[in-house]
This record gives sequence, structure tokens and C-alpha cells, in this order.
Amino acid sequence: MYQVYPRSFADSNDDGFGDLPGLIDKLDYLNDGTERSLGIDAIWLSPIHPSPGFDVGYDVADYDAIDPIFGTLDDFGRLVAEAHRRGIRLMLDLVMNHTSSEHGWFEQSRRDPNGAYGDWYLWRDGRRGRFGRRIPPNNWSSFFGGSAWTWDEVRGQYYLHTFLPEQPDVNWRNPAVREAMLTMVRGWLERGVDGFRLDVFNAFFKDADLRSNPRRYRGRRPYDRQVHLYDKDQPELVDFLAEFRALVDSFPGSMTVGELFSSDPIGAVRLSAPRHLVFDWWLIKTPWKAPSFVRASQMREAMFRESGWPTVVLGNHDQSRLASRLAPRADATTSDEVARAAAVLSLSLRGTPFLYYGEEIGARDVAVTWEEIIDPPARRGGRLVRRLVPWWNRDQARSPMPWGRGGPNGGFTAGRPWLRMAPDVDTRNVAVQDDDSGSVLNAYRRLLWLRRRHPAMQVGTYRHVPTRTPDVYVYERATDDETIIVAVNFAAKERSFGIRTSRRWRTLFDTHAPDGAASREISAGGELTLQPRQAVILLGA
Ligand code: NOJ
Repeated sequence: MYQVYPRSFADSNDDGFGDLPGLIDKLDYLNDGTERSLGIDAIWLSPIHPSPGFDVGYDVADYDAIDPIFGTLDDFGRLVAEAHRRGIRLMLDLVMNHTSSEHGWFEQSRRDPNGAYGDWYLWRDGRRGRFGRRIPPNNWSSFFGGSAWTWDEVRGQYYLHTFLPEQPDVNWRNPAVREAMLTMVRGWLERGVDGFRLDVFNAFFKDADLRSNPRRYRGRRPYDRQVHLYDKDQPELVDFLAEFRALVDSFPGSMTVGELFSSDPIGAVRLSAPRHLVFDWWLIKTPWKAPSFVRASQMREAMFRESGWPTVVLGNHDQSRLASRLAPRADATTSDEVARAAAVLSLSLRGTPFLYYGEEIGARDVAVTWEEIIDPPARRGGRLVRRLVPWWNRDQARSPMPWGRGGPNGGFTAGRPWLRMAPDVDTRNVAVQDDDSGSVLNAYRRLLWLRRRHPAMQVGTYRHVPTRTPDVYVYERATDDETIIVAVNFAAKERSFGIRTSRRWRTLFDTHAPDGAASREISAGGELTLQPRQAVILLGA
């Protein structure tokens, strides 16, 4: 699964924003059916609907249309057809916990409490505090800082927003809302969409009585200093999911993935079902240390067990870029070595891998100056408040994709990119990496196509293979027909270790020998030596 952040992927009309025709032009890059292409199976498109952009598209003003900056419904139809022609599936991002405050539903809801849309959002009168001062109905905090309630002068009531005030939460207990959302979902399935990523789906339902959350005394941000008992993870979600998933399942071959919002990872297991995955976030929080990855995998395997199916996520549009997070302050060579070794993990651990655009060229975070910050929670409150309400600026992981086909801005646009390009676009781009057999891009390509040929990499059982060396992580994946061993050296030094085995192994993939991948043969009971940050995949004979 390949996540495209549409604003930053490919700009066809030089307005500085990526768009759907641009993405169509790059489909062959993603998968043209040959091993020259990346070889992904499906695209997850971050939101493409009209939006005032307060949360860069995660504030939807019209679920049924395409934002003109991205193109038209015809372009979308073309995208579906062209993707399908190449065997690529297409998933949309469904942001259904909230709409934009500019959505027609909200505009009508705030104007006419007794009208058809009066009860489509969570409106309350609030309470009276000392000296008759108006205070919000309960203590809930917005994830982006401040109270989760904003007073609306038009309606004369408070409304709830788990995120920005420009993102009012809809009232999922209202059957009319549920019906409207499901009709919209059906519409996209009928247009040929193959599935959805569900934004913060475990926040849809809130406590019916909107009780205040208990306090917690630890946590950096006010949001963390509450136990979120009542503002998410309510039992009613299960019923809705059954209805939603039945609709999706009525379109054969479809799937969904839910974004588990700030909750116990066990929720990911509880809420997942066949073809309906849930992100668990273990790996995206794991530092570049072998014991940490061993532990994270053990936890995931214990949680999901053999019959459950996890996702494998090392990066997305909300988190630091994989290479920057796993190799902070590293030079380009080290950064790329870590990126290639991480690619091995991403594409050979058990679960569906989600790649974030740019990850395949080892992209790093891009420093954005205070004046240029777009990410609203990062901007909110100014520099001073930012110290009290720390929020990492997500723009840093959203910089436009450098294609390197000449011209300015790494070939992304001849116009002014909506967000600053990475400083290394001339050396780190698709064209340059295309020509270099040892590049991060070519590692991803080889791994993705190997994954297709070797079912053990996809569906094999997982077993940790202990070694005496704490810097290496070794595991086995096996089907009835084949067994592979993955060995990753996390250290900056060479490491040698033995794998107890009675088989012979040959190298299927080697981060350090891209051209001669089959060069190494390890005989039964053999010692293995790995160079710094080297990762290999071995196939049992
Ligand atoms: C989760 C999305 O991934 C994030 O980008 C967004 O800000 C929030 N949901 C609110 O929609």
C-alpha cells in the first residue's frame, strides 16, 4: 500500500500543488507491471475533496466532489480506470469524524437548530461558572490544543471539535448522519474505489451523556492529561463498523484500514477483521535499536496472534520521515543505509506494509521556517504557546516529491511549490536513484517484486531467531513450501553471529550487494557476518 499525499506528489499544471492528472502520469512509476517500476499494489490517497484547508484537506467541505486544485470528477474517473488497468487498487481517505465548518451541513446546522440538520453536530448550551461566566459543557480537550468546545455566536451554543474549531465533530448517534455517510461511501464504491482509510474512526462515537473525562496527572500536553474514557472508544462503534463493513464487502475485492486514534494498540486487534485492517502504531514509534524492534514485533505477534493480520507502518503524513526518525542527524550515506535496512523490515515483517510517498527515495524531514509553517496545530498559538503545547510541525514530512526530470524544484513544478522542497532535491530524487543500482529506490523495487515471488515474505509465519548479538535482529518467515531468514544489523559496526540451522541458505536480497544478490552462500550451522547497517534476506534451500 502506497500513501500519496496529493498536494505533494506530482503537479501537472505548474500551480505548485500536486494533482490527479499528475498522479496519473506517475502510475507507471508506481507499477507498470515490470520490475523497472516500484511494484506497489494499491494507493491510499490522502483527502482530495474540496476543503478550506485548515487541516490541509482533513477538513472536508463536500464529500462528493473533488477539490479543484486536484482536478475534476472526470480526472478521478480516469485515475480509477488507469490505476485498474495496471492492477493498482485505489483507496480514499474517509474523514467522517468531523466535517469542515464550511460544509453545508454545518452551515445549516448552526443557522437552524430546528431544521433538518439541527442535530447533525454536537451542540450544547454549556454551563455557568463563577460570576455567571459561560464555560464549556465538559472538560474535553482538543487534540490540537485548547478546549474541544467552541462557542458559536450564530447558534448561541457550544459545538464539539476533537481537532480544530474549523473541524466540528458530527453527531454519529443521529441516524440521518449515518445514512448520509453510508450513501456517500456507496457512491465512491460505485465509482470504482477499492477501499478506504478511515480517519480517527474510534472517535466517531462519544459518551451519550458527554461526561467529563477523569484527569490524569502525567502527560506533556493537556490532551494527554486526561483519561479519554468518554470522548472516544465507545461500544456503539462496533455496530456501525458492522454496517459499514457489510457495505464495503458487498463490493468484492474491497478493503479498509482504520486509523486508531491515540488509543491502546490492543484496540487495533479488537477492531480488525478479515480485509478490514487497523493501524496499531507500534513500529512507527520504535527507535533504531535491534532489541526495540524485537520487542515491538513480539508485542505485535502476541497481540494479533497468527490468525490476526496487522499493518506494517514506519511512516505517514503525521510523523517524522522514516529516515530522519530512525537516523537523526545522519549524513546522506548513513541515512540511506538505515533507509534500506528499514525497507527490508517494512517489506518482510508480518502484515500489510504501508509506504509513505518519498520513503522509497529515503526522503528526510525538511526544516520549515516559522513564517512558512502551514500545519495548523504547529502554527496555533504562536511561538510562546508552542513551548507549552508542543506540537511537531507535520509540514516537515510533507515536502513535494522530487522527480528530478530537470528544471527547478526537482522537477516537481515550474511554479512555486505549495511547501518548501527538500534542500537535497538535486541529489536525492527519482531520476538520480533510478540510475544507481545501490539506491534506496532500487532496494524498494527489488524488495517489492521479491515479495510477490516469495509467499514466505508475505504470508509466512513469523518466528524470532535469537542470537547472542544484541545488535542484530533475526527472524524467520515460513510457509509449507519455503522458509526465509531476515537478518538486520542495527549497529554502526560489523557483527558476526551464528544461526543454528541444518539447512543451506542462499542470499535473496542484500542491502550491501545490490547487483550480486545471490553471491553469498551460508552452509548449515554457518556463521554470518553483517557489515554496519546491513540487512539480508536468505532463502532456505
Ligand atoms: C488524523 C490525520 O492523519 C491527521 O492528519 C489529521 O490532522 C487528523 N486525523 C484530523 O483529521
